[in-house]
Amino acid sequence: MEAVTTERLAFKQPELADGDALFERMNDFDIVKFLTSVPWPYRRADADAYIERARSGRAEGNGHYYLVLDKATRAILGTVDLRFDPEETAHFGYWYAKAAWGRGYASEALTALLDFGFGSLGLRNIWGAAMPQNPASIRVMEKCGLTDVGRIEVERPNFGDAVEMVKLNMRRADWLARSGGAPA
Ligand SMILES: CC(C)(COP(=O)(O)OP(=O)(O)OC[C@H]1O[C@@H](n2cnc3c(N)ncnc32)[C@H](O)[C@@H]1OP(=O)(O)O)[C@@H](O)C(=O)NCCC(=O)NCCS
Repeated sequence: MEAVTTERLAFKQPELADGDALFERMNDFDIVKFLTSVPWPYRRADADAYIERARSGRAEGNGHYYLVLDKATRAILGTVDLRFDPEETAHFGYWYAKAAWGRGYASEALTALLDFGFGSLGLRNIWGAAMPQNPASIRVMEKCGLTDVGRIEVERPNFGDAVEMVKLNMRRADWLARSGGAPA
């Protein structure tokens, strides 16, 4: 998906040189409180650990991990990733720096990720999950054409508990109907 651009966004794989910028943006409880796998307190080393997990995950074929960039300035806005499950299914996650909220970036990037997953990777199902207390994220997924398929319990190693999340799913047929099958 590095070759993909949208109207305002570009994507690239994270590198160690991105660690400072990631730490600066991610060290924000208003972001981490809605994520299930990011440690809190967030340390500079956690940014490097994420970058290494993205590298090894990609190398092992577990998924795709991207920084979302402002296409014009190449500034880092957030991240989006797609992790593979069995049976041609994958799930995604994302977060954006607070300064970038409310401008439609999450929806623009998720649309591109769905096109990549269904169009280029040929997946059959792509799903995401958000806490009920996170209506902005649920809205992002609904705007992109996912539908609520129920509640799931997700472990949150970062807080040592489990939380109920709203699961939203898109089937390949939904994507084809929506996009006309446009290739990624
Ligand atoms: C959730 C998050 C990704 C949204 O990013 P964003 O770029 O602001 O999202 P968008 O601008 O594409 O869309 C947000 C939508 O939610 C709506 N929204 C925002 N706050 C809302 C609220 N409290 N209740 C209902 N809808 C809300 C916006 O109006 C917009 O919908 P609209 O286009 O129909 O008006 C961002 O706030 C974030 O990174 N949060 C912290 C981390 C996180 O929650 N990650 C997702 C975990 S599941």
